[in-house]
Order: sequence, then C-alpha cells, then structure tokens
Amino acid sequence: MKEVLIVYYSQTGQIFDILSNIESTLKSEEVNITYYKIVAEPEYVFPWDAQKFYDIFPESFLEIPHDFHPPSPEILNKKYDLVILGYQVWYLTPSRPIISFLKSQVAQQLLGNTPVVTLVACRNMWIQAQEKMKKHLASLNANLVGHIALVDRNINHISVITIQHWMLKGKKDRFLGIFPKPGVSEEEITGSSKFGTPIREALIANDFTELQENLLKLDAVLVNPYLVRTDERGNVLFSKWANLIIKKGKPGEPKRLKWIGLFKYYLLFAIWVIAPIVFVVFLLTYLPMTRKRKKERNYYSSVALNES
Ligand SMILES: Cc1cc2nc3c(=O)[nH]c(=O)nc-3n(C[C@H](O)[C@H](O)[C@H](O)COP(=O)(O)O)c2cc1C
Repeated sequence: MKEVLIVYYSQTGQIFDILSNIESTLKSEEVNITYYKIVAEPEYVFPWDAQKFYDIFPESFLEIPHDFHPPSPEILNKKYDLVILGYQVWYLTPSRPIISFLKSQVAQQLLGNTPVVTLVACRNMWIQAQEKMKKHLASLNANLVGHIALVDRNINHISVITIQHWMLKGKKDRFLGIFPKPGVSEEEITGSSKFGTPIREALIANDFTELQENLLKLDAVLVNPYLVRTDERGNVLFSKWANLIIKKGKPGEPKRLKWIGLFKYYLLFAIWVIAPIVFVVFLLTYLPMTRKRKKERNYYSSVALNES
C-alpha cells in the first residue's frame, strides 16, 4: 500500500476542490490518501477586511511565520511515499500559513527525504513564489517531483478587478454582473482530475523521473513570459516596500497603516501604469528575447532549481 499525504491551506475551498478532483483518479486499492489542512492560529478572517488585506503584505512577503495547528500524531509519525502540497500565492510569495508550515519542524518531519508534488492555484502570478517554494523544499531535503499551476485565465487587468471583488466580498461570482468569474474556472477545477493518473502511475512504479514531463503533456503548467517579467520586477519593488513598512510598527498600528495606505496607492499605480509599460517593453524586445523566453519557459515549467 502506498501512502499519500495531501497538505494544503485554502480560504475559499478552491484548492481543496482541485485536490479532491486529483484524488478521485489518484486513489486506488493500492493508494491510501490522508489530508492535512493547515489552520492558522489565529485563522485569517474571510472575506477580507480591505485594510487587513493590505496590512498582511510585509509579513507575507518577508516570510515571517506564525502559529498553526499541528497535524495529529498519527499523521506526524507516518512515513509517506508522496506528499502533495496545495498552496496559493500572497504577494508573490507562498501564502503565510504555507510559509509557516514550511519553516516548521512539522514540515521537516513530513517532507524530509520525501517526493513532493506542488499544486499552486492563484490569480496568475506564481513563478517567483514557486522559486521560493523550491528553495524551501531543497532546504528541507524534500524531493520536488511534480508541479501543477492553475490560474485565472482572464487577462491580467480583468483578474485584478475580479479577485478584489472575490477576496473582499467573499463571493466567486461575476462582479457587477458583467465581469467574468474570478479564480480558476469550474472547467479547470473539474478537469484537474486528469492529473491524478500520471501521479498514481509514478507512485506505483516508484519512479518519478518522468512525472513532470507527463504532467506537462496534460498542460499542468503554462508559463506566460509577460507575467514572468512582471513577477520579477514586482519582487524587486515589493522587497523595498516590505522592508520599509515592517520598520514602521506592528500590524494595525496607526503609523504603519499610513504607510500601508501609501503602498495600496503604489500598488494601483504599479498595476495600472508600470505593468502596461513593462508590457510595451516586453513587446518591443519580443524578437531579441526569443531564446531567453524559451529557456525561461522550459525552466519554470520544470521542477529543477537553479541556485543563483
Ligand atoms: C493577501 C492576498 C494576496 C494575494 N496575492 C496574490 C499574488 O501575488 N499573486 C496571485 O497570483 N494571487 C494572489 N492572491 C490570490 C490567491 O493566490 C488565491 O487565488 C486566492 O486567495 C484564493 O485562494 P484560496 O481559496 O486557496 O485561499 C492573493 C490573495 C490574498 C488573500
């Protein structure tokens, strides 16, 4: 019997729905599946209060961990043949509950010397978050063998508007009745059952060497080269803001909230002014950058880690 542990965090249940669909084709008489849902202590309130949504930025980006409920001793003391880790992105970084888990003794125990498949479901900007994830897994001695990335396929600026509606109102419906629904589409959530089969086959054969190739044949990862650029630039700028704001006080303190207010306006400026400029530069350099884009596409679709 092969033992699989599915570890995840999710506020809206979107990641759980995707994981359950993967489970439907992964489980068999030879595969036993256990879930461990990370619960933050205290738990984040959903839907988000607008101020808290922005005030969480510095600690999220700087990967400052917090408490969470540990798994039962039964889960903790078992050796798993595979761990599937479902996460979302907060401010271009794996969400804070996931970072808290990755930085814990619990992760060391569950992921050390164990094959891991990561599943990210977010708005659309996951590339650098996955690079951070790869580094955490490497430092835990975990073996990343597969990666699946599911995103909102609507154009970037549309998804910026609709995710705000989803996060602040709590409803995954059409904003004003005219915008598309936010998040991963129902079709892709249901369709994610296709990923369970290659994972099961690799697990039973005890050979994960071809798993990522097989997942890619099922469109597990689509790298958008324009978002690669935006994500890179975003990380440079977020680093400056996060390191500045963290010095201004604790979450909720009035002095810090003034800076959070400025950051919020900066974010709007970055999305509506800087991102279109990045897009124009991206288009102007499209031909000379062809080789670089291909190299990046191959690398970011893979489970390899370039230590640079
Ligand atoms: C505070 C916060 C920051 C977010 N930042 C990003 C981001 O940088 N990139 C992205 O693609 N999605 C971002 N999202 C969207 C999430 O990745 C995710 O799609 C959404 O929270 C629903 O996930 P869940 O139901 O699994 O928790 C953010 C969401 C929150 C709440």
